Amino acid sequence: MAGQDSASTGADGSEGYDLVVVANRLPVDFSVGDDGEVDWQRSPGGLVTALEPVMREADGAWVGWSGAPDLAHEPFEADGMLLVPVTLSAGEIERYYEGFSNDTLWPLYHDVIAPPTYHRQWFDAYRKVNQRFAEAAAAQAAHGGVVWVHDYQLQLVPKMLRELRPDLRIGFFDHIPFPAVELFQQLPWRKQIIEGLLGADLVGFQRGGDASNFLRSVRRLTGHTTRGSIVTTLDEHGRPGRRVRAAAFPISIDTNYFDQLARSPEVQARAKEIRTDLGDPDVMMLGVDRLDYTKGIRHRIKAYGEILQDGRIDVEHTTLVQVASPSRENVGAYQELRDDVEVLVGRINGEFGELGHSAIHYLHHSYPPEEMAALYLAADVMLVTSLRDGMNLVAKEYIAARHDLGGVLVLSEFTGAADELAPGPLLVNPHDIDGMKDIIVAAAHMEEREKRRRMRNLRRKVMADDVAKWSKAFLGVLTAVPSRSSHV
Ligand code: G6P
Repeated sequence: MAGQDSASTGADGSEGYDLVVVANRLPVDFSVGDDGEVDWQRSPGGLVTALEPVMREADGAWVGWSGAPDLAHEPFEADGMLLVPVTLSAGEIERYYEGFSNDTLWPLYHDVIAPPTYHRQWFDAYRKVNQRFAEAAAAQAAHGGVVWVHDYQLQLVPKMLRELRPDLRIGFFDHIPFPAVELFQQLPWRKQIIEGLLGADLVGFQRGGDASNFLRSVRRLTGHTTRGSIVTTLDEHGRPGRRVRAAAFPISIDTNYFDQLARSPEVQARAKEIRTDLGDPDVMMLGVDRLDYTKGIRHRIKAYGEILQDGRIDVEHTTLVQVASPSRENVGAYQELRDDVEVLVGRINGEFGELGHSAIHYLHHSYPPEEMAALYLAADVMLVTSLRDGMNLVAKEYIAARHDLGGVLVLSEFTGAADELAPGPLLVNPHDIDGMKDIIVAAAHMEEREKRRRMRNLRRKVMADDVAKWSKAFLGVLTAVPSRSSHV
């Protein structure tokens, strides 16, 4: 066990880990062979990249779900950290993951773009599964250690964990938006969620607006008081209890990794090859999203089809590549979205495509980072048109890849990234189809000098704040104050 070298002593006298990350998913993919043997491979997601350096330094453990039903696996070592799988049954995946997390909280927190479904059995499963995650974290953390809980799937964990282990320093980071209280109060279990989060010492959000929304919900829906970014909880006798800080920590990516990837001769050659394969268009536009209704893919493709219809661009000179990676395929709203997008793409290609010139190249796949970097480098215009997005890391990856200062970023106003990056990108309101069409056409025709000027500004912002800095900033605030000062 990695934790045994530095041998901290846990609350029950056993050794434990100084830093425990708790997230819905483990940073590895499991596969079960024909012989029933379980194997795993690293899945290099944003979060693991962010946390890897601190996990190594701090002697870390990661608690998360394997991604498969009923898969029980002992904790194991990988890349200098302990991975602790949490087992979910098929029914729990349906109710906790597909149900409450992705058909209740996800649409509610993204401003009800799709209608949230409220089912009491789903919430029961959410509570039960959160308790399991809390217990797994409690079993791994060293006495006085730090536990960092991530995202909307695990909002009850901070309180449950504090009840099990009052000695711990607990942080929570919400990767998605936090909605306005007028929407949040639809949730029948709104108080439990707020109380769950207030089990943490620090609750982090992507944007200042998300932190304000949370603080307003605390004021409106509980008896706790707030002053600036600090919540003072009241105990059952109405006496002031713990202090909890809520603040914004906008997340980033491993900027250097994407910059270096895009500078490699292989990726540059692949970028050229992509353009050749597309028939050397004058303008290649690119969309890269999980196939999710929050991403505004329908709006973007509709606008693109109308621009073709209006004759403002043509398929001989311009093409759109849309990468839509498969996501949450058992949830109804995602199945409907896939059907809608595929019908729309088919219709536009049928109407405007020519032999050797497709209007839209639609790819329902995920790709490794090398291929993504090549696509970014090949694309003259990057279209990020989310209807709501906590941050949008694709926008940052595109900027990090464009060391050549080429490329134009069209970015929705409704992303966390827009708060940080304006005025470099061309901002759009994806609901305003005419406005978005004008901006897409302007992006396609932007002069080289203007492109370079904007990209230089964008890179100045993005390259300065990488994800390691983000995790250090969060953990720095979480651990700065002596633990007794989290009590009034
Ligand atoms: C968003 C969420 C993450 C989630 C990811 C992929 O970025 O904030 O928590 O892991 O989507 O979704 P999935 O449901 O496949 O984990």
